[in-house]
Amino acid sequence: MSRNAYIVGTGHGVPDTKLTNADLEKMVDTTDEWIITRTGIKERRIAGTEIANSDISTIAAREAMDAAGWKPSDVQAIILGTVTPDFVFPNTAALVADNLGLGHIPAYDFEAGCSGFIYGLIQAKAFIEAGLLDRVLVIGADLLSRITNWDDRTTCVLFGDGSGAVAVSSEGPGGRLGGFHWGSDGSVGEHLIQPAGGSRQPTTPETAESHLHTIHMDGSRIFKHAVRAMRDSCLLALKMDGTPKKEVDLLISHQANLRIIDATARALELKPEQVYINIHNYGNTSAASIPIALDEAVRNGTVKDDSTVVLAAFGAGLTWAGIILHW
Ligand code: ACO
Repeated sequence: MSRNAYIVGTGHGVPDTKLTNADLEKMVDTTDEWIITRTGIKERRIAGTEIANSDISTIAAREAMDAAGWKPSDVQAIILGTVTPDFVFPNTAALVADNLGLGHIPAYDFEAGCSGFIYGLIQAKAFIEAGLLDRVLVIGADLLSRITNWDDRTTCVLFGDGSGAVAVSSEGPGGRLGGFHWGSDGSVGEHLIQPAGGSRQPTTPETAESHLHTIHMDGSRIFKHAVRAMRDSCLLALKMDGTPKKEVDLLISHQANLRIIDATARALELKPEQVYINIHNYGNTSAASIPIALDEAVRNGTVKDDSTVVLAAFGAGLTWAGIILHW
C-alpha cells in the first residue's frame, strides 16, 4: 500500500517587538505611503539581541507538536530551512531538538532562501513516503534583521524576523502533501546575495566596514524572476498533482511583495478571498513566511476540511518551489 505524508500540526514564533513604517521614516529616506504602495508592508517583527533563531523556532516547533498531540519521543527528525542560523555550526535544528528534549534524533539545517520551507516539506514527504521516517518536524525560520543594512532604504523596509513549523506524519487526518515542483538557477544568484562571510569572501574588518555581510538585492530584476517562477511553480505542482486550477481553494504564497502575490493569484484565476495575506503584519520573513501564514490560516479556520491549498515560494539561490496540500 502506498504511503502518504500529512501536515498534522502547525505553529509559529515571532518576536514581540514591532517596527512600523513610521519608525522606518525616522531611520531612512522613505515614507509609509511608498512602502505600502510598493510592497503592502505596514510593520514587521524584529528580534532583540537576546533572541536567536533557535529561540523562536523552539516556540514554533513546540506549538506544532502540541497541535499534533506529539510527545517528545514521537519526533524522529527535525529539518530547518534558514539563511540565518544561530551559528554556522552547530546547526540550529540540533539546538531546537535539545531545547525540546527530543533526544539524539537526526537534525539538520539547509539553505534555500525563502523557498526553504517548501523544500523542507518535499524532503519530509520523500522520507515518509519512502518509509524511512513516520514523524518529522519541518521548520522555516529567519532573522533577516541580522543581515539587513539599516542604511539601505531599498532593502531595510522589506524584511522581518520569524519562525514557522509543521509536524508531518505518515498518518492523517491533516493536509496531505501532494504534487510539487522545485527548482533553482545559480546563474542569476548574484542578484540576491550576502557577499561576504562564506568561503568565497571570508570575514575581514574591510568586509564588515563595506556592509558585505548584509543583503544586496537588485529588487526589480528579482521581481521579474519571482513573478515568473511563482506562477510556473504553482502550475507545474498542480499538473503533477492532476488538479485543475478551478479546484484550488486557497493560495498561501511567500509574503515578499503584495504585487507578486497578486500576480500569482491572477495566474491561478483566484478571487481575493482565496489568497491568504499577512505581509502587512510581518514583512518578508524569508523561509518563515509560508509556515507562519499557514499556521494562522489553519487556526483561524481559513483552511477548512477538504480545502485544496497551493503553497508557492521564491528566494535566494535563486530558488523556487510549489506544493499542493489536500486537507
Ligand atoms: N522609500 C522610498 N523610495 C524608495 C525606497 C524606499 N524604501 N526604495 C527604493 N526607492 C526608490 C528607488 O530609489 C527608485 O527611485 P528612482 O526611480 O528615483 O531611481 C524608486 O523608488 C523605484 O525603485 P524600484 O526598485 O524600481 O521599485 P520597485 O517598484 O521595483 O519596488 C521592491 C522595489 C519592493 C524591492 C520590489 O522590486 C520587490 O519586491 N522585488 C522583489 C523582492 C523579492 O521578492 N525578493 C525575493 C525574496 S528575498 C529573500 O530571499 C531574502
